[in-house]
Amino acid sequence: MCITASELTKRFNGITALNGISFRIGCGEAAALLGPNGAGKTTTLRIFAGLLKPDSGSAYVCSFDVQRQPREAKACLGYLPEDAVPFLNLTVRENLEYVAVLRGLSDSVVDDAIRLLGLEDLADRTAGSLSRGNRQRLAIALAIMHRPRVLLLDEPLNYLDIPTQESVIRLFRELNASGSTLFVSTHIMSIAERLTSRVIMISKGVIVWQGTMDELKDNAASAGERIEEVVARLMK
Ligand SMILES: Nc1ncnc2c1ncn2[C@@H]1O[C@H](COP(=O)(O)OP(=O)(O)OP(=O)(O)O)[C@@H](O)[C@H]1O
Ligand SMILES: [Mg+2]
Repeated sequence: MCITASELTKRFNGITALNGISFRIGCGEAAALLGPNGAGKTTTLRIFAGLLKPDSGSAYVCSFDVQRQPREAKACLGYLPEDAVPFLNLTVRENLEYVAVLRGLSDSVVDDAIRLLGLEDLADRTAGSLSRGNRQRLAIALAIMHRPRVLLLDEPLNYLDIPTQESVIRLFRELNASGSTLFVSTHIMSIAERLTSRVIMISKGVIVWQGTMDELKDNAASAGERIEEVVARLMK
């Protein structure tokens, strides 16, 4: 397994954001964490990224316990935060170079990342001067540049225009095909469908359904419903 949640619980000032969630995602899989606003998606990903401590339960990345083996777990990860803010006073290229140095990567990785996200014309602009969508492209470049074994993506298509969404979907699929495990949070079923083959559905901090995308489609077909209707019913 590359991602495991075991009875994860997290409360914020009396609000239960996660209530004992458990799931496992195999290495090389692409899975979606699908749920409405406030369901606990970002909270879950932040725990896996080592940015938030659960009140109880455990999270494992690449078989490393994120609490007990934080260095090993972090080295295995790429993380796209929900509201990613790069260093705003640095240029696009300088942001990528900075992270490349921290991760011990070669200069060619920076050029590759610029090319993969179509950032050539923006490479010398400061991140603070970019539009929100272009800043998201930089954040994706920063998350994927080291070709992580596990990629945590929180609403990855936010702010992106349609052509960029298409090229980014292609990029994530290629990364998955070459071995990266994808864990994608979204509230949009069609995004889950295009990027992943497994769904973990979360609502009010509880897993309400999990299975393969094909099983979800079969459920919809046998109930005579559209897949969106099944999802809406399960997430109520
Ligand atoms: N730092 C915090 N302080 C207080 N409450 C928080 C904090 N972070 C999250 N919460 C609460 O935890 C719950 C889950 O929030 P979370 O951000 O994980 O939801 P989400 O599924 O990512 O939603 P969205 O689709 O809106 O991004 C919500 O009730 C939210 O208000
Ligand atoms: Mg969120």
